[in-house]
Amino acid sequence: MESNKLFTPYQLGPITLRNRFIRSAAFENMARDNMPTKELMDYHVSVARGGVGMTTVAYCAVDITGVSFNGQIYVREESLPALRELTAAIHAEGAKASIQLGHCGNMTHRATCHCMPVSASNGFNLYSPTFHRRLKVKEIKQLVKNFGKAVDFCREAGFDCVEIHAGHSYLISQFIGKRTNRRHDEYGGSFENRVRFLNEILDEVMLHAKDDMAVVVKTNMWDDCWRGVSIEEGIKVAKEIAKHKVHGIVLSGGTVSASPMTILGGAMPHKTLAYYMPKSFWWLKAALNIPGAAAMVMPTSPFKELYFMEKAKIFQKEIKDVPLIYVGGVQSGANCQRIMDEGFELFQIAHVLIKDPDFVKHVQENPNYHAGCCRSNYCVARMYTLDMKCHECVMRDGEKIPERIQKEIKKLEAKARKSVEESKK
Ligand SMILES: Cc1cc2nc3c(=O)[nH]c(=O)nc-3n(C[C@H](O)[C@H](O)[C@H](O)COP(=O)(O)O)c2cc1C
Repeated sequence: MESNKLFTPYQLGPITLRNRFIRSAAFENMARDNMPTKELMDYHVSVARGGVGMTTVAYCAVDITGVSFNGQIYVREESLPALRELTAAIHAEGAKASIQLGHCGNMTHRATCHCMPVSASNGFNLYSPTFHRRLKVKEIKQLVKNFGKAVDFCREAGFDCVEIHAGHSYLISQFIGKRTNRRHDEYGGSFENRVRFLNEILDEVMLHAKDDMAVVVKTNMWDDCWRGVSIEEGIKVAKEIAKHKVHGIVLSGGTVSASPMTILGGAMPHKTLAYYMPKSFWWLKAALNIPGAAAMVMPTSPFKELYFMEKAKIFQKEIKDVPLIYVGGVQSGANCQRIMDEGFELFQIAHVLIKDPDFVKHVQENPNYHAGCCRSNYCVARMYTLDMKCHECVMRDGEKIPERIQKEIKKLEAKARKSVEESKK
């Protein structure tokens, strides 16, 4: 067992990380009117100070048509000064700065993206809810260019790395999956056609990344839904990505529209989600409070530490030429060590750094450290309408959380603890 490897530097393409911990892209919802804020900077500085090798600013859209939230940033000149300040502050703490680039496709609403939402095919997305239209080939070509321009923008903003979001049923994965891609042209039908958009984007991204920006791609090992990408197809997608000689592939799974808890692990606190939703979503609030109805839309995925490990090991056997980055269910120093022992060089963490930005420091001091994140997913439920915060931090800062919400959180925490125990038997 190489106990020190966790804290050794790693060469990720052209950049050197001080250790193996990366703060995963976890949407902060801390921008205002799509502009970066001090709150966004402070959060990333706190995890950089807490010792991560690199922190990832989440869910930046390559243009306004790819934005799902008002609290999300997108590529535009006006954001540059604030982003430069953010990356400089991260660098001052000794960490590298990465940014996730993507396009939400149909996971938005006209009021937010200022146009009819777009996707691979025409349809209706119940999740928003919204009708969406099929992209024309000319528009696809423009979006590909936008990904390249976004890389230049990120370099100018001081980022060291870009992470292309090709999973979770956002636009790139809406093209890859048969469930959402019903096209009959060169972007639909065969596997080769469905990955064409991804391949064109990666050609463009690598061209613009030159030799000074690291590029990682977050992909789905499988979609975990009807007509979604299977493990076999997920491996084929990862092999396509590897052909571009990107510097790392992040192995995730699940889709936001059909299997969100596969991505996150555990259960969604539905009452909490409804509680923070604005009154204008009264119908959704009402539906979320109907026992059983909400669980059908967001079914629980029993939480297990390192919940993607078995599938990630299958990919490890298949993909040899690009470093694979583990993500999913890291709770403790022992989990981090296991990832190294399994032969991964790097990994990403989200939940534990929301509760405890000093997680890395604590693991360095005590290899058996456990963050004590009990996986109620309060942070996720809150993130949709307010900001990404842990209930413990919120209450410590004096914000009140109603009794019935606290009760739901405790119930889900107990459920997650039980499923962790059962998974160890
Ligand atoms: C509050 C929250 C927001 C998230 N937002 C994103 C996102 O914007 N993009 C993404 O690729 N994954 C997102 N994720 C998923 C995480 O990046 C990560 O893949 C997942 O939480 C598993 O890691 P963990 O077990 O260490 O939390 C989010 C997770 C959380 C908890």
